[in-house]
Amino acid sequence: RKGNFEHFMQKEIHEQPDSLTMTIRDHLKTIRRSRRILFIGCGTSYNAALAARPVVEEHSGIPVTMEIASDLLDRQGPIYREDTAIFVSQSGETAYTLEALEYAKSNGALCVGITNTVGSAIARGTHCGIHLNAGCEIGVASTKAYTSQIAVIVMLALALGVDSLSTQQRRNAIMDVLYNLPSKVRDVLKLDRDMKELAALLMEEQSLLVFGRGYNYATALECALKVKQVSLMHAEGIVAGDMKHGPLALVDETLRIIVIAIRDASLNKQQSVRQQLKARKGRLIVMCTEGDAEFMCLIEHCLQPMINIVPLQLLAYQLTVFRGFNVDQPRNLAKSVTTQ
Ligand code: F6R
Repeated sequence: RKGNFEHFMQKEIHEQPDSLTMTIRDHLKTIRRSRRILFIGCGTSYNAALAARPVVEEHSGIPVTMEIASDLLDRQGPIYREDTAIFVSQSGETAYTLEALEYAKSNGALCVGITNTVGSAIARGTHCGIHLNAGCEIGVASTKAYTSQIAVIVMLALALGVDSLSTQQRRNAIMDVLYNLPSKVRDVLKLDRDMKELAALLMEEQSLLVFGRGYNYATALECALKVKQVSLMHAEGIVAGDMKHGPLALVDETLRIIVIAIRDASLNKQQSVRQQLKARKGRLIVMCTEGDAEFMCLIEHCLQPMINIVPLQLLAYQLTVFRGFNVDQPRNLAKSVTTQ
C-alpha cells in the first residue's frame, strides 16, 4: 500500500532511514543484550530448537525458554521488549508460528526467523533471520530440515558467545566437528539395513516408548514424533529423568522401549534407567555409541542429536514401509499447516 505517497518509488525513497537501520543494525548485539531468548515453533521445528537449547544456554549465558506456538497463543504468555523471540519453521508458513510472530512483534520483542523458505511469511515478517539452505523438503515428515535447524541454532549460539575468551577453545572444537558432520551422518546412514531388520522386528507392535535425556531428550521426542507421524504406531518420547513419575507403570514384558544411552554426560544415568527398565522386564533396544573411544574424540556431545536422529528417522521410514502406509503423505497431515 502506498499510504500517503503518490507512488511506490516515492514511498520507498522515504523509507530509506528505516531500511538502512534494519540492514546495518547489529542484531547479534541486540540478542546478546536480551534478557531472555524464546524459541517458538511447532512439531519437528520445536524439537530442533529443544535439541539445540543447551548449546545456546551454554554459549550465550541467556535464559532460554521453549514455546509451542499454539500454547503460547492460548496462554497469551508474557513477552517483553527485552526478549528475543526466535521462530523456527521449515515452511515459514505455519499458522500458529506466524500468529505467535505477530504477537511477539506487537509486544516489542526482537523477532528472528529460522526457515527453509526464502520469501515465506515468517522470513518476511521477522526483523532478521537465517535461511537453512537445506534444499526443498517434499516429504510431509520433516527430516533433513531438522538436522539443519539444529546446525543453524548451534552456529547462532557460537556467534552469540564469540566474545567470551573462556569458551573459545570449546567453540573452535565445535566448529571443527560441525565441518565434519556431513561425513559422520554419511556413516550412520549405513545403518539403514540394521534399521530395516529392527523395523521388521517392531512392525506388529502397538506401542513404542523412547527414553532420552540431556542433549538427547529432543532426540527421543523427535523419534517418537516421526514414528507416530508416518508409521501410525503409537510412540511416546520421554525424558528419562521423569521415568519414575508415571511412565514406569507402563513397563512390562510386552512393551518395546528404545533407550538412547550414548556415551555422553548422561551415560551413567541412562545406564541406571536401562537397568531399572530391564528389572521390570521391558523389551529394550539400546542405542549406544560404537567404538566409544574413537567416536568420542570426534563428536562433541552437543552435536550428537544431529547424528543420533538419523538412524531413528530410518527406523520410522522402514516401519512405515513394512506396515504399508504412505510414507510421503501420512494420513490426515499436510506439509504446510496454514490453518489453525
Ligand atoms: C513433523 C512435521 C511437523 C512440522 C510442523 C511445523 O515431521 O513435519 O511436525 O514440523 O508442522 O512445520 P514448520 O516447520 O513448517 O513450521
